[in-house]
Amino acid sequence: MAEPYAFFKGQYMPLKDAKIGILTQALHYGTACFGGIRGNCDAEKQHLCLFRLKDHYRRQLDACKILNICLPYDADALAELTVETVKRSGFKENIYCRPLAYKSSEAIGVKLHGLEDDFFVIATTLGPYLGTGGIKCCTSSWRRVSDSQISPRGKITGIYVNSALAKTDANRSGFDEAIMLNENGHVSEGSGENIFVVMKGQLITPAPYDSILLGITRDTVMQLAKNELGIETVERSIDRSELYVADEAFFTGTATNVASIVSVDQRPIGNGEPGPLTVKLQKLFNEVALGRNPKYSDWYTFVKQR
Ligand SMILES: Cc1ncc(COP(=O)(O)O)c(C=O)c1O
Repeated sequence: MAEPYAFFKGQYMPLKDAKIGILTQALHYGTACFGGIRGNCDAEKQHLCLFRLKDHYRRQLDACKILNICLPYDADALAELTVETVKRSGFKENIYCRPLAYKSSEAIGVKLHGLEDDFFVIATTLGPYLGTGGIKCCTSSWRRVSDSQISPRGKITGIYVNSALAKTDANRSGFDEAIMLNENGHVSEGSGENIFVVMKGQLITPAPYDSILLGITRDTVMQLAKNELGIETVERSIDRSELYVADEAFFTGTATNVASIVSVDQRPIGNGEPGPLTVKLQKLFNEVALGRNPKYSDWYTFVKQR
């Protein structure tokens, strides 16, 4: 029987048996960083493809440096124990891995130093995140945190209060997702996705200095656009009103994949349908993420299902 599984406190166990104490420091102060890795099931080949597994761990280890978290594992070791957790879960369908590195001391006090650190990873299932149709967005009145507040460079759990405020306001106002502006009023990203626009034939995405997470799907799409379509992505600041006049817009993210944005602040993007470049990149991405393009074999970790 397949079931969600965890590597927790150095052991493999069913998720239901993995528990933490209620005084755990990270639970109180947001002093943890997470990852999110999809395992896409290729039914024909009877395996799962964990997509860019080590790249996810390299980014998470960078976030650990920011948070002063020391783990006894490098990216290779983290990848290995993730593969074993996935195998033990027994899932034969698309899966999602959620690693978390955290301040594990059971202690009261706001700080990063002088505390124990720990790591776990969960293998479970996760359906489509934002749905498969076109996404209707609003720009949020909440500004994206900047590097001088909490670095958006890592998936630091405390930052996600910023995302959650924006997302809930958007959903309660009838939108699917929020687009956050940074403290300079430039477009930053969605609550859990990077954003791209297509304008006058150019593919444009906010630059790293615009308070974004350096998304792995973002990087994948940039590489696919260049290698497969000969399109260089321009990384620059994007004004809010440029969203309104863009020909196409889309989100990228591990949970979301590549998802078309069809309106922003009740203004249709282009003709209000997924645009042609978005659809092309979506197709390219979906095929590559399934592990079917040998040109990108470095990005694949295959897990044979038992
Ligand atoms: C704030 C934020 N931006 C962007 C992304 C997309 O990153 P990736 O493509 O690495 O999943 C995420 C993913 O969770 C995110 O939380």
